[in-house]
Amino acid sequence: MKTLIKGGTVVNATGTATADVLIDGETIAAVLAPGSTLLGFDIEQNVDQVVDATGKYVIPGGIDAHTHMQMPFGGTEASDTFETGTRAAAHGGTTSIIDFVVQYAGENILDQYNLWQEKAAGQCAVDYGFHQILSDVQDSSLTAMDELINEGVTSFKLFMAYKGVFLSDDGQIVKAMQRASDNGSLIMMHAENGSVIDLLVKQHLERGETTPYYHGVSRPWQAEEEATHRAIMLANLTGAPLYIVHVSAKQAVEQIAAARDNGQNVFAETCPQYLYLSLEDQLGASSPEWGEFEGAKWVCSTPLRSKHEGHQHHMWQGLRTNDLQVISTDHCPFCMKGQKDMGLADFSKIPNGIGSVEHRMDLIYQGVVMGEITLPRWVELTSTTPARMFGVYGKKGVIQPGADGDVVIYDPNGHTSIGLEKTHHMNMDYSAWEGYEIDGHVDTVFSRGRMIVDDDAYLGRKGDGAYFKRGLSQYLI
Ligand code: URP
Ligand code: ZN
Ligand code: ZN
Ligand code: ZN
Repeated sequence: MKTLIKGGTVVNATGTATADVLIDGETIAAVLAPGSTLLGFDIEQNVDQVVDATGKYVIPGGIDAHTHMQMPFGGTEASDTFETGTRAAAHGGTTSIIDFVVQYAGENILDQYNLWQEKAAGQCAVDYGFHQILSDVQDSSLTAMDELINEGVTSFKLFMAYKGVFLSDDGQIVKAMQRASDNGSLIMMHAENGSVIDLLVKQHLERGETTPYYHGVSRPWQAEEEATHRAIMLANLTGAPLYIVHVSAKQAVEQIAAARDNGQNVFAETCPQYLYLSLEDQLGASSPEWGEFEGAKWVCSTPLRSKHEGHQHHMWQGLRTNDLQVISTDHCPFCMKGQKDMGLADFSKIPNGIGSVEHRMDLIYQGVVMGEITLPRWVELTSTTPARMFGVYGKKGVIQPGADGDVVIYDPNGHTSIGLEKTHHMNMDYSAWEGYEIDGHVDTVFSRGRMIVDDDAYLGRKGDGAYFKRGLSQYLI
């Protein structure tokens, strides 16, 4: 199958150009001046389909480097399967996800990795890779890290919170970091001080403060700043590269910026929820169905932060200054009925997570519309840098000959209304983004050369998506 995408504005992280894109089979074959011939052949006459992208952007497919499909968590399981979650991703212009293999304390890492491969196999609409979560860092975990690198799993997430579930103590963290420093892998950190949070949660509940708002209040920015600083120091001690996930506090960005100014290999992502949503939105949320428990829809960790403290402004600024390099969703969806409602009487029992995998490209494109970031920066934050950070650049994250034919045609004059009855394809009974109106629209999505979405119609099949082995990070200094 040969496709010519004609007349669009090709947007890479390096800039924009009016160009035609020729996809041959699964791969981009050429990026050409508009209307060019190839070795004397009229290209249009020699392809199977021509797609007119005049007036539209032609961008590398989005890469969401932080998702949790069907993750067992909080006494339940994330509601999107690999099938539903990756199909929703495709609708939103995301053609790759990197999901987390979970190891709970005591579980064998390689068994868990094989289990996740089984869960995803034959299910996905788009290509996928894996990170590995390490909880209790045993000696066997260290050899498993080396083995997983050969399987294309080159990044390992540790947690400084969730005692008894995920938490690694500082000694275990150092042990994993030492290994990462030796084998070249990347340590990802959930940076929140778990002991402090556990105490504050207990105190709020004892005072009868049980509503979703207290989830945020019990996870203050100081707990994020402290853990971020500690993670940076432990990485400094061991020489391990460090990537802080789901940053929401401006003080954490300041710690990251200082470490980077100091020449340390410290990187970070933020998520759409920390750019747009606030603790006050959660406090003010109420509905006839749920009353003030409505706020449970936005319970995630790190939590939404107060809009009066300047966090959102700082996130956008960090995205411009490259103190934050990646935007992922931390897609971890739960339904209100039967899942989030486990916490009706106690916010600490609300499963943590928000689902956004379908809306990331649209939501961050709004940053371009609002003048917060440039068009190439949109592509860099959502596709190119995730590809480089996690070792798939060249195949993914760029429109250039030899890259996979993962291409999105985005219409800046189109419009997208987000909501349960509208564009929503995620397996959730609510949308955290209900009512958001987007100036822009994902028109057409190609995954390795196959058109899988066209004007909101899904044309792909489950199992189209393939596992990709990742190399070591291409972003380290
Ligand atoms: O609330 C969140 N973020 N749930 C997913 C698990 C994690 O910490 O990333
Ligand atoms: Zn986390
Ligand atoms: Zn997560
Ligand atoms: Zn359209």
